[in-house]
Amino acid sequence: MLPMPIADLQEISKKLADTGQRVHVLWQRPETLAFVARGREYRSEFHINPSDEVMYMIKGQMNLHYRTPEGKEDIAVLKEGAAIYTASGVPHSPRFPPDAFLLVMERKRKPGEIDRFQWFCANCDNLLHEVEFVVADYALDPVSKAYAAFFDDEKARTCTKCGTVAPRY
Ligand SMILES: [Fe+2]
Repeated sequence: MLPMPIADLQEISKKLADTGQRVHVLWQRPETLAFVARGREYRSEFHINPSDEVMYMIKGQMNLHYRTPEGKEDIAVLKEGAAIYTASGVPHSPRFPPDAFLLVMERKRKPGEIDRFQWFCANCDNLLHEVEFVVADYALDPVSKAYAAFFDDEKARTCTKCGTVAPRY
């Protein structure tokens, strides 16, 4: 039903660059949720979410790291103007610089659905740390909150297998 918001992706990207913010939510409805994200220098975690995702590269380029069902890490390169579909449940890590902008389309979470973040050891690929959380509102920038908790916790960043400590940034 109405209203039918129109989002100017170039204008929103410029606003994110000017303000230093990371995320601008376009809309959040039960069946559709869209936001523009500005890249993060330090992104290393894998996101596992209960919703399918479509991502469109507005500006710049993204290396979408993902993990195969066998636990192998691979990279899909998304060039400017290209779109990619990622099924729910695929661990993925969107890595793109702060001057690059990505449109992400998902849906609002249903009651009881949880999202997960996983970090892996850069040295031995052992699972370092996992966080589960409920994404009630993307405007609250849950990614930044998960990162702050991870960076502040040296134990979480220390590999139990090889002892390597992930950098704090
Ligand atoms: Fe390790």
